[in-house]
Amino acid sequence: MTTDENDTVILAMESSCDETAVAVIKNGHEILSNVVSTQIAIHRRYGGVVPEIASRKHLELINIVVEEALEQAEMELKDMTHIAVTYGPGLVGALLVGVATAKALAFAADKPLIGVHHIEGHICANFLVKQDLKFPLICLVVSGGHTNLIKITGHGQYLLLGQSKDDAAGEAYDKIARALGLPYPGGPQIEKLAKEGDPSAVELPRAWMGEDSFDFSFSGLKSAVLNYLNKAAMKGETVCAVDVAASFQQAVLDVLVQKTVHAAVANKVDTILLAGGVAANGTLREQLQRAAEKAGISVYYPPVQFCTDNAAMIGAAAHYKAVQGDYADLSLNAVPNLSFEKLLLERHEN
Ligand code: KG4
Ligand code: ZN
Repeated sequence: MTTDENDTVILAMESSCDETAVAVIKNGHEILSNVVSTQIAIHRRYGGVVPEIASRKHLELINIVVEEALEQAEMELKDMTHIAVTYGPGLVGALLVGVATAKALAFAADKPLIGVHHIEGHICANFLVKQDLKFPLICLVVSGGHTNLIKITGHGQYLLLGQSKDDAAGEAYDKIARALGLPYPGGPQIEKLAKEGDPSAVELPRAWMGEDSFDFSFSGLKSAVLNYLNKAAMKGETVCAVDVAASFQQAVLDVLVQKTVHAAVANKVDTILLAGGVAANGTLREQLQRAAEKAGISVYYPPVQFCTDNAAMIGAAAHYKAVQGDYADLSLNAVPNLSFEKLLLERHEN
């Protein structure tokens, strides 16, 4: 691998939840390695992520995954131009493992350190595969922890248009899956079941939050599905799981799709990006694409492996921060409740 002095070659780490991930990314888009060690099988036994187990596993795995990522890239630590890490939001113990490791490596190898906001990582997964996207863009970030509609006017320039007031979309998928007796994580399981079901079989609410609102709420929908399941159980009736899955998914997607297209139209933006774990959902991709097309809007999304948590997306986000000289120092700490507003404020300060 040859590099010149203007290249960035970033060792990026992500440990905010249940994936221990390390990648080596050149110039924000060349993926020299991308290693993800998932803990899903371990947490599945408990029906969701157990924070203490997640931190312990990250601790056991992080050095091995760093070595593997460097080996696959056929590079050494000294060849890196920067060390990047997710510092929030996420589980505090899990984040701390990545942050402490990144700081130790940056100090030992005397490399600049870059702290990345997890949401910015998800957004930048789109730039891994497509670098010539024209600003402004509208991005729908839908993950286990977030549902955000964001206007992007340049690299690192974000305007939050709306967000979930309660559960995130992925969280709602996971909770309904659990109620249907499906394993964690629920999103892919619901998507699979929904393909066999009738999306209009069970009447469920959609929370529009006002005509021009770009905010979301999924707790009412979640309660409606849980009530439906409880009532059926009390009457001794069996429910048709595929119809419940399809009806629930359609209620989520109707709101996500309509608000996202509306955000693009209202802001006169002709390109929509999808990001986050729920963006792996093929039905969401299809329905958004169809609705956007009618409004003359293009839709892009990253391949599935870059939608769910990974470190390649952190390396992509870190590249644009490196280009802007936006570095952290060794006082960088894990911030479990790091807000989206913090992303905007930090940019203003720099
Ligand atoms: O981005 P991610 O890996 O982690 C967070 O930052 O939260 O997202 C995980 C979430 C989980 O809630 C999972 O159920 C959901 O993404 N998810 C999906 C699909 N694949 C993952 N939701 C719906 N359909 C999918 N195919
Ligand atoms: Zn994530």
